[in-house]
Amino acid sequence: MWQSVIPTPELTEQNGSKTRDLAEILQGLRQSPKVLSPKFFYDDLGSQLFEKITELPEYYLTRTELSIMRKHIGEIAGLIGPHASLIEFGSGSSVKTRILLEHLDRLAAYVPVDISRDHLVAAAEALALEFPHIEVLPVAADFTQPFDLPQPRVMPLRNIVYFPGSTIGNFMPGAAQALLEVMYQEAKEDGALLIGVDLKKDKAILERAYNDSAGVTARFNLNMLKRLNNEFSANFDLSKFAHRAAYRTSPGRIEMHLVSTCGQTVSVAGEDFHLGEGETIRTECSHKYTLEEFAEMARRAGFVVHTVWMDPGGLFSVQYCLRE
Ligand code: TRP
Repeated sequence: MWQSVIPTPELTEQNGSKTRDLAEILQGLRQSPKVLSPKFFYDDLGSQLFEKITELPEYYLTRTELSIMRKHIGEIAGLIGPHASLIEFGSGSSVKTRILLEHLDRLAAYVPVDISRDHLVAAAEALALEFPHIEVLPVAADFTQPFDLPQPRVMPLRNIVYFPGSTIGNFMPGAAQALLEVMYQEAKEDGALLIGVDLKKDKAILERAYNDSAGVTARFNLNMLKRLNNEFSANFDLSKFAHRAAYRTSPGRIEMHLVSTCGQTVSVAGEDFHLGEGETIRTECSHKYTLEEFAEMARRAGFVVHTVWMDPGGLFSVQYCLRE
């Protein structure tokens, strides 16, 4: 028998910085074409809207990944083994996480790592209550840079990095590679990576998923401008921007843009930016991989793909990768 611990999630905050965020925003807007980092999507409202996206009929990703997890959880738990520490990069994926917390054998700790502090704390508290025998140790950090792992009370046998949702696709190939390298570090010796990767497929299916008929993805995209207004002294007029998402076959990614519907000048923290009519700010890319492409990227980060699970339609994959 092992002892339950009292659920008191203790938060560790690391390496986030508003000054650095603002510098990144300004730099992106000075570029041509203009870009903004998707990490600014996720304030409270952004996180809520994202949850809604995952429930949309057109958005097959979450539903498909969940069905894969449910179907293969026995095999996944068997591969991970007992007394692991589960380190989730991001904390928005509560249902998938719950499947793991329910089925993994005597988890030493669950460590969610997220840049959105409030969302992280709320999610961690809920999970700590639901799983009183699992030590929950949230870390508020920008996980694209190496961070220190908190020390669980029980010594874990191995670290399992969990990165669901095909969030890896939201990083440019170079950054995705660098992130896999951070994961390799955080997994430590004998560690592994469990990752959700969306696959290349018909353009129409992809474009529908990011242009839902209810307009939730559009609201999610536009919310970034509202956030810049609220938190970074910007003055975007949301009625002068439109959502656009399109698939580019080469290199194989959905691109999400905010299109300026007229010529206009906006100001962010005192700096003016001009946008011509039809000019866009790219807010996010969602790269789609073939199994071979992903295996090659993982290999360069030091991982070998051990097992791939897919839905019958081959839309989505969950992959278990070992440190070489
Ligand atoms: N990673 C998922 C994807 O690329 C989820 C996601 C991230 C998303 N940002 C998004 C979905 C913006 C819609 C819009 O699909």
